[in-house]
Amino acid sequence: MEMKRMGMAKLYCFALVLVFAFGLSSSSRVPRERKHYVKFINNLSNKVLNVNCKNEKPYIDLTLHILLPKEEYEFNYIVGRGMAFRCDLRHGSTSKAFLVSDRAIKRECGRNHCIWKAQDDGVYLLNRKTNQYTFKFGWEN
Ligand SMILES: *[C@@H]1O[C@H](CO)[C@@H](O)[C@H](O)[C@H]1NC(C)=O
Repeated sequence: MEMKRMGMAKLYCFALVLVFAFGLSSSSRVPRERKHYVKFINNLSNKVLNVNCKNEKPYIDLTLHILLPKEEYEFNYIVGRGMAFRCDLRHGSTSKAFLVSDRAIKRECGRNHCIWKAQDDGVYLLNRKTNQYTFKFGWEN
């Protein structure tokens, strides 16, 4: 009787170890999430900048963000299928909408952080390798 109970206890321990090992190995097999960061800086001369970013499928609306002069707004998302945020920037009666992190843009940003700057003459993108802003888009009506 005692022997039998010991056996069961051993078996139970063994099962626990198995469960634990499986848990560990399966969690280490899960691919690491890659995040992409997108930031906007309002460098308009004394004007409010409105930023609204959306993804089509799955539909995600990050809602309107209103940036006072010099204010910033950043969001991030987990890189994956269908994730292609389009952001609408506007001030006064002008606006510009564009994809903020397609392949070409990401390459130009120089990693997983893209920094956009809005100025009176248009929208600039920071190249983080050279630390230089490049003019990307003018404002449209
Ligand atoms: C902000 O914009 C002005 C032009 O309107 C420019 O001279 C200045 O360098 C910009 N500042 C930054 C931090 O980019």
